[in-house]
Amino acid sequence: MIKIAPSILAADFAYLGEAIRAIEAGGADYVHVDVMDGVFVPNISIGLPVVAALRKITQLPLDVHLMIAAPDRYIADFIGAGASILTVHVEACTHLHRAVQQIREMGARPGITLNPATPLDTLAEILPYVDQVLVMSVNPGFGGQSYIPTMTDKIARLRQMIQSRGLDIDVEVDGGIDVHTAPATVAAGANVLVAGTAVFRHEAGVTAAIAALREAAQGALGRQAP
Ligand code: DX5
Ligand code: ZN
Repeated sequence: MIKIAPSILAADFAYLGEAIRAIEAGGADYVHVDVMDGVFVPNISIGLPVVAALRKITQLPLDVHLMIAAPDRYIADFIGAGASILTVHVEACTHLHRAVQQIREMGARPGITLNPATPLDTLAEILPYVDQVLVMSVNPGFGGQSYIPTMTDKIARLRQMIQSRGLDIDVEVDGGIDVHTAPATVAAGANVLVAGTAVFRHEAGVTAAIAALREAAQGALGRQAP
């Protein structure tokens, strides 16, 4: 089953509660929360108080994507604030295994993510310990960028790596995802789609946007390689 995770980075922050109500009504599976520190990525977005505020107003799982340097410093805080899935960048984390273990021990689902230029080889040892791998299909830091086409093959190789080891891991894709780019990512093996611009800036509204994305993605499921 495909999961849709709207990224609130593209929402109007002055009306964040209404944005959450809209994606709930539209059938979103997760709320994707992009945390940026101006160091790991060249942008600053939102942090702990916003995660805590969201936790109070929705039952949807909070899929928190930490684009921050040395994210292990803040794992306890983000889980305490209400993160359901907590994703750290392999490039930012010196002791990745410890970080992943800590996320699980504290009761959240551990995710890891790779920048577009980071090879899948970096996952070799950590893969059995995670619940989700996020393939960045743009360079992190900003919404509204174009999907990097070579990431489709990376997703396919990641799915193959997971299957060949007999693991059960969600493959999430983030960046430039819309009705045009989503089908190939799903056919390659992605099952969680993050979308900011395509959901919150859709001219027909959030509900129509999520429905269109889901339909495009479901249509590609049958095209998955065996
Ligand atoms: C990029 C973020 C993404 C971003 C996606 O650094 O991780 O989650 O919000 O935005 P769109 O869907 O507009 O590419
Ligand atoms: Zn993200």
